[in-house]
Amino acid sequence: MIMIERQVGCSVPDEVFQQAAAACFLSMGISRPCALSLLLTDNARIRDINHTWRGMDQATDVLSFPSLSLAPDRLFNQDDPASLEAWDSETGAFYLGDIIISVDKAQEQSAQLGHGLRREMLYLFVHGLCHLLGFDHETREDQLHMRKQEELTLQAVTGELTPDDDQLLQAARAARAQAYVPYSNYRVGAALLCEDGRVFTGCNVENISYGLTNCAERTAVFKAVSEGAQRFEAIAIAADQTAPWPCGACRQVMSEFAPKLRVLVTWDGEQSEMTSLDRLLPHSFLSFQEDRNG
Ligand code: THU
Repeated sequence: MIMIERQVGCSVPDEVFQQAAAACFLSMGISRPCALSLLLTDNARIRDINHTWRGMDQATDVLSFPSLSLAPDRLFNQDDPASLEAWDSETGAFYLGDIIISVDKAQEQSAQLGHGLRREMLYLFVHGLCHLLGFDHETREDQLHMRKQEELTLQAVTGELTPDDDQLLQAARAARAQAYVPYSNYRVGAALLCEDGRVFTGCNVENISYGLTNCAERTAVFKAVSEGAQRFEAIAIAADQTAPWPCGACRQVMSEFAPKLRVLVTWDGEQSEMTSLDRLLPHSFLSFQEDRNG
């Protein structure tokens, strides 16, 4: 969740930043809810902030103020209580910090570099986000590490690189961590790849009234649809002990949006052959109107 404040006009819509953050979290295997603030401002204001907080009396393109000072590999490590300090009970998310971008600078730089404002804003945002996630460029090694993460994120967002099957399977495995399974103790994670390159993950959420349980696949589908995505390419489903083939209810729900969805299943180090939803659910229920009329 990004709280965006716009002090100046900027044609880049909020969704661009939301998608970039989602891609960055996905590629880092972060499935915890995270929040951050983004301020889009001008040269005068960023200069002010730079002066007040960093003693540097000059405008710059992007500033980031991480709320945690943890290296990326220690972030959200269960054994590291420092991560918990960022928990914000008001938003129900880990507060990563603040990013400030000068739209004036972004405009100047995009003209100099000969690419659009959207591309430049995206780069500056991803750079700031990587800092919030513990990346730095103090040493040559750190710089290369950070650059790699920036590249991965930018490629995913600009559609140059949609996650491959291995990445999708990995995202499904990571999503198991959030499963709420006090009754079955059977953790399922799903990762749904949309045509626009976005990936929505989901886990199973059980209920003491067992029938109200929501499977991981439907959680992912409902998250996607509620964020405006309805065209899906593939789903990866992961569990621990046995193959988590989607249940009948999930097959029907998925087939409403993508009857030929590619389905990948993984468990316990095993992986199924890729199959498609029309093979798992032939003769799905498609229309009550045709049946009635015909
Ligand atoms: N479950 C899924 O999440 N996906 C499936 O396709 C089958 C079953 C969950 C529901 C329940 O929480 C647990 O697995 C045991 O049935």
